[in-house]
Amino acid sequence: MDAILVKGNGPVNGQIPIAGAKNACLTLMPATLLSDEPLTLTNAPRLSDIKTMSALLGSLGAEVSSLNDGLVLAMSTHNLSSVRADYDIVRKMRASNLVLGPLLAREGHAVVSLPGGCAIGARPMDLHTSALEALGAEIELKDGYLHAKAIGGKLKGGTHEMRFASVGATENFVMAATLAKGTSVLKNAAREPEIVDLVQCLRKMGAQIDGEGTSEIIIQGVDRLHGATHPVVTDRIELGTYMLAPAIAGGEVELLGGRIALVQSFVDKLDEAGVDVWETDAGLKVKRRSDHINAVDVRTEVFPGFPTDLQAQMMAMLCTAQGESNLEETIFENRFMHAPELMRMGADIDVHGGVAKVKGVKRLKGAPVMATDLRASVSLILAGLAAEGETLVSRVYHLDRGYEKLEQKLQAVGAKVERVQGN
Ligand code: EPZ
Repeated sequence: MDAILVKGNGPVNGQIPIAGAKNACLTLMPATLLSDEPLTLTNAPRLSDIKTMSALLGSLGAEVSSLNDGLVLAMSTHNLSSVRADYDIVRKMRASNLVLGPLLAREGHAVVSLPGGCAIGARPMDLHTSALEALGAEIELKDGYLHAKAIGGKLKGGTHEMRFASVGATENFVMAATLAKGTSVLKNAAREPEIVDLVQCLRKMGAQIDGEGTSEIIIQGVDRLHGATHPVVTDRIELGTYMLAPAIAGGEVELLGGRIALVQSFVDKLDEAGVDVWETDAGLKVKRRSDHINAVDVRTEVFPGFPTDLQAQMMAMLCTAQGESNLEETIFENRFMHAPELMRMGADIDVHGGVAKVKGVKRLKGAPVMATDLRASVSLILAGLAAEGETLVSRVYHLDRGYEKLEQKLQAVGAKVERVQGN
């Protein structure tokens, strides 16, 4: 099993290109199920999760071709051969549940496995089912699968207010509503940039949608959607992750394709911590204001608040900040598994419930550590950049789900990072 070896060394300098967003691509791909005409995505990230989604769509009868070294996904769904998303695929990748809304809209029925728990939490689907029931779906749980069907064979427009602004449930509702009969309104909708990107793509396909990026999205159902070509939006989580490399190790790095608007709340926190971020024609530049980082308090929230997907990476930086930082995780119930691994590197972290208290130490010490989930794994690599000695991060298959060419991107700015045979 592969591992990543990181040698703590000096500052990082240079440019890192940012790829298309995994979490946008994973909701854009199921949109091919909504039309019998071709949907082509450009600027697609080269990640194992994208391969998993391609396999799932293929199992439903869609044709997915990966072109131009994976940057282009040419998809078409003339007709579906199945409406079933199996447990063995869904348990590996929760985003597989994003075929539920499109299948209901296109075929009037779907059988989608519940994902089961994952490292960061139980991650139920009650918000998805109640949202789709507002569109006239009948959903029953049987042997671990959601058996869903549109009453009368076709979804009907409806209004629904979510108790929590779930990203996936918003995406399932919006995709399903594009072909429902009549008008649909989703209140307390999620506002993430990936949802805005999905709506822009659906609009190119002929959908009639307003309000994306706000907490109220209105969809006027249409009879059919046509094909389109759409570029995947820049990955704000990959962007934020690599912005922390110069913050942790020193130096100045330009993140190509980055824009402040994608990470405003994160940039505000970096500013508080003593890190400058400014826009260039090519993207974003990041540089520490002095030789140390100030402790800051962080609370994760739905967009536009501080992203939960950057919490682990922020903790890696705060482990060597001057002072004590409090990180409060409000989105997932178990998203501090990177803390014990960082403590193996000498970090001083005290986790109680949803709050991690991080007392900055002078320097971390490299150590063998284990990746537990996608964002925890990259936080260990960031911590290793400035640690004394070597850090060996095992189980890096987690990393390959969300970070393309990670070693190459960090090597390009002078970091000593390489992939080795793990134990
Ligand atoms: C998306 O997951 C992202 N994944 C996650 O990124 C991200 O952390 C999350 O949004 C929050 O921003 C993709 O877009 C593929 P939610 P999603 O529904 O849609 C609870 C990464 O690292 N909930 O907004 O599953 C849930 O348990 C991944 O790239 C319910 O209770 O997130 C969680 O506590 C990790 N019932 C919270 O809401 C439901 O029906 C947020 O979930 C659905 C969710």
